[in-house]
Amino acid sequence: MIARLPRLLVLGTGGTIAGSAQSATGGSYAAGELRLDQLLNDLSGLGLEAELVAKPIAQIGSQDMGWDVWDVLHREILAALNDSQMDGILVTHGTDTAEETAYLLDLTLPADKPVVLVGAMRPAGAVGADGMRNFANAVRVASDPDACGRGPLLVMGDAVFAAKDVRKAATSNIDAFKGYPRGPIARVTPSTLDWFGGATRVGEPARYGWPETPPRVAILTAGAGMDAKPVEALLGIGCKGIVLAGMGQGNAPGCVLDALSEAVKSGVPVVRSARVDEGLVDRNVEVDDDRYGFVAGRALGPAKARVLLMVLIANGITDATAIQAAFDRG
Ligand code: SIN
Repeated sequence: MIARLPRLLVLGTGGTIAGSAQSATGGSYAAGELRLDQLLNDLSGLGLEAELVAKPIAQIGSQDMGWDVWDVLHREILAALNDSQMDGILVTHGTDTAEETAYLLDLTLPADKPVVLVGAMRPAGAVGADGMRNFANAVRVASDPDACGRGPLLVMGDAVFAAKDVRKAATSNIDAFKGYPRGPIARVTPSTLDWFGGATRVGEPARYGWPETPPRVAILTAGAGMDAKPVEALLGIGCKGIVLAGMGQGNAPGCVLDALSEAVKSGVPVVRSARVDEGLVDRNVEVDDDRYGFVAGRALGPAKARVLLMVLIANGITDATAIQAAFDRG
C-alpha cells in the first residue's frame, strides 16, 4: 500500500507527444520539439495524482530510435526498478517505433514495476491534440500496483496494450494502435482503470540479457515478381539474421525461399513473418519450414520479429529449434 502519492520517473525521448504544431489546423509539424520540462509544465494544471520526476533522454522523432537511446533507456529503467523510492516508470515516445522499444524492454527487463510507454498522434497545439489525455491515462496506469507483472505497456487513447501484442496499424488516425492476438488488456481514463485479467509475470526476472553488441538483422519484404538478389545483398552486407515480411502466411517466390534456405545453411537464421496486417504465421502450413530450416514468426509482425531475433542472436541463441521455441512463447 503506497501512503504517499505514487512517485513516477518520466523518461522523455520525443515523438509527437513532444511535437508542436505551427498551426492548429495545418498538417505539418516536427516531432520531438518540446523539451520534457515544457511538456510536464503544460501537464502541471491537470491535477495528476502522482509525483513526476523528469529525466530527458532524447528529443527525437522515433524513426531515429536505436541502440544508443535504447541503451540509456534500459539503464535508467533498471536503476528505477532497483530504487525503492520509485513506484513506476513512464516513457514518452514517438508512436512510429513505440512497439519496438516496448517489446525490446519486455524481453530484457524484469516485470516487477509498471513501465508504461505513452505517445500521441497529434502534436500540442493541433486541434484535437491527444497528448495530455494519453499522458494523464498513462500516469493512472503507471500508478496502479496492478500494472506490475505485465511487462511494459503502451497507453494510447483509453486503451492499454501489452508490449508483445501492440502495433501501429494506421498512419494518422487518432485510434492508430491495435493488439494481436490480444486487444487492449485494460481500459483507462484519467479517473478509472479496468484490467481485463490478472498479471501473469509477477516476480519474473528479465528473459534475456541486454544485447551489448546488437547484431545486424534485416527485414526483407516479399513482393510479386521479385528475384533472389536482395537476399544475396543482405548476406553481402553481413546480416546475421533475416526476417521475411512475407506474403499471406509469410510466403515468398520460390527463388527467394531457396536463397533464404542457403542463408540458413550458412548460419544465418531466417524467420518468416507476414506483411499482412495481422494473423499467425505457423510452421509448415504453405511453406515447408522443416525442409528450408526456417522459423515461423507466429504472432509477431516483422518489426517485433526483428527485435526478438536480434536479442536471441546477441544472447547466443542461433539454433532454429531454440529460436522457434522463443517465437512460440512470443
Ligand atoms: C514519431 O514516431 O516520433 C513520430 C510520430 C508520432 O510520434 O506519432
